[in-house]
Amino acid sequence: MPLLSCRNVTKAFGSLMAVSDLSFDLAAGEVLGIGGPNGAGKTTLFEMISGQTRVTSGSVVLEGRDITRLSPVGRCHAGLARVFQLNTGFDSLTLRENVLVAAYYGRAPRRMPGFRIPSEVGDRVQEALCRVGLETRADRPAATLPVIDRKLLMIAGALAMSPKLLLLDEPVGGLTQREIDQVAEVVGRVAADGVTVVLIEHVMRFLVQLSSRVMILHHGKKLYEGDAAGLSRDRDVVEVYLGQGAGREVARLAAGREQGAQHAG
Ligand SMILES: Nc1ncnc2c1ncn2[C@@H]1O[C@H](COP(=O)(O)OP(=O)(O)O)[C@@H](O)[C@H]1O
Ligand SMILES: [Mg+2]
Repeated sequence: MPLLSCRNVTKAFGSLMAVSDLSFDLAAGEVLGIGGPNGAGKTTLFEMISGQTRVTSGSVVLEGRDITRLSPVGRCHAGLARVFQLNTGFDSLTLRENVLVAAYYGRAPRRMPGFRIPSEVGDRVQEALCRVGLETRADRPAATLPVIDRKLLMIAGALAMSPKLLLLDEPVGGLTQREIDQVAEVVGRVAADGVTVVLIEHVMRFLVQLSSRVMILHHGKKLYEGDAAGLSRDRDVVEVYLGQGAGREVARLAAGREQGAQHAG
């Protein structure tokens, strides 16, 4: 049984078909990288998977359970965590408190915050901060954070919910090459720990390095689905998305990835 199935999902905004009759399955343990031009429908797809937007038609199935009508928080509790494209967080809270909010509310239904935070929640917070490397700054206010740490803080919040499926929307947008490598290392480790990941990214180096499978969207439809090595051989992908120069770069990166896998295996 796939971990996630999107079946004919469609989102129409008036006459604009942001996502059009899109179907795909995701097996547990996969890292699916999604690319495509601006406006291709990538974020809208995440909105429908995480429940921030209702599908116009189609269904979203998590571990065999139809979650299409479930609330976003219900989907969190079912094991789905999402990191947003735009930076979010509570500026006046410390990093630890930010992650605590996710850890406390993201795993199970809660009424009001209790007088006591269960120690199990505190453990998850500490572990999540360590996984992204923010543990030494945990008691600083989030307002003081540089962009890279804000991105890592959002990932920590998602990890503190112990998700089965992690959705990352452009996690390295606007970062320097060194910072991109830093996030790649964190996400690579999370995937190696068995969390299934779907990531949207324009930075091809990041996408190719991490993804076991790639899907390119264009005008709300699937333009390509396959391994990273096939991207640069696909004329439509090169024409619509990559361009010739980037196509050659992607071919080089994909070859490097395959070599790395051979050495590892
Ligand atoms: N809430 C909305 N209302 C109307 N149009 C929207 C809305 N959200 C997204 N769109 C449109 O849907 C299309 C897909 O957007 P989006 O999913 O954000 O693309 P991507 O993430 O691939 O850049 C775009 O044309 C965008 O303008
Ligand atoms: Mg987007």
